Amino acid sequence: MIKNIVLIGFMGAGKSHEGRLLAEKMGWRHLDSDDIIERREKMKIARLFKEKGESYFRTVESRVIKDLLLKPQVVLSFGGGAVCRKVNRHFIRRKGFVVWLRISPEVALSRTQKSKNRPLLDVKDADKAVRDLMKEREPYYRQCADAIVNNNTGSALASLLRLPQIRKAMTSKALPRKRTKIHAGAFV
Ligand code: S3P
Repeated sequence: MIKNIVLIGFMGAGKSHEGRLLAEKMGWRHLDSDDIIERREKMKIARLFKEKGESYFRTVESRVIKDLLLKPQVVLSFGGGAVCRKVNRHFIRRKGFVVWLRISPEVALSRTQKSKNRPLLDVKDADKAVRDLMKEREPYYRQCADAIVNNNTGSALASLLRLPQIRKAMTSKALPRKRTKIHAGAFV
C-alpha cells in the first residue's frame, strides 16, 4: 500500500512550496528532505557541499529519503537530485505516489538565479548547468513518476488536487497505484 505523496523535479520546480500547500489542503504533514539534511548535519546545503563534497551529501540524502519514505500520510518534497542514485529511485517508486513537477530549463534558470543555496548552479555558466543536468535527470524523473504535472506557471496546486489518487487519498487515506502515467497541464 502506498502511504505518502512524493514530489520530485528539478531545482526551482516548486516542490517545497507546492508540497506545503498540498499537505495543508490534505491535513497531512509536509516534510522536505533538504530541511531534514540541514537539521541533521547542522549546516546549510551549500556549506555541506563545500566542506564535505557532493558524494557525502548524496549519502546523507539517501538515508534521509529512506527514513522519510517509511512515514505514513506525509507529503514529501525531495531535492532535485534525489532521483540520481538507483537505490533512491527504487525506494521512491516502491513507497510513494510520485508526482514529477515539471518545468522548462528557462523557468528553472529564472527561479534559481538568485538562490545562494544551490551549489550545483553556483557556476559560471548556470544556463549550461541547468540544461546538462536536466537532460541527464529527465529520464529518471519520468521513470519514477506516477503523475506528471507542469509547473511552469507556479500554480500546480489545483492540478495536484485534481489527480484521482490524491482525491482518493483525501477521503479514504489510501493511495492505489495507477498503472498509467497522468499528465496534468500541457507542457509548453
Ligand atoms: C540539488 C537540489 C537541491 C539540493 C541540493 C542538490 C540537486 O534541492 O538538494 O542543492 O542536485 O538538484 P532543490 O531541488 O529543492 O533545490
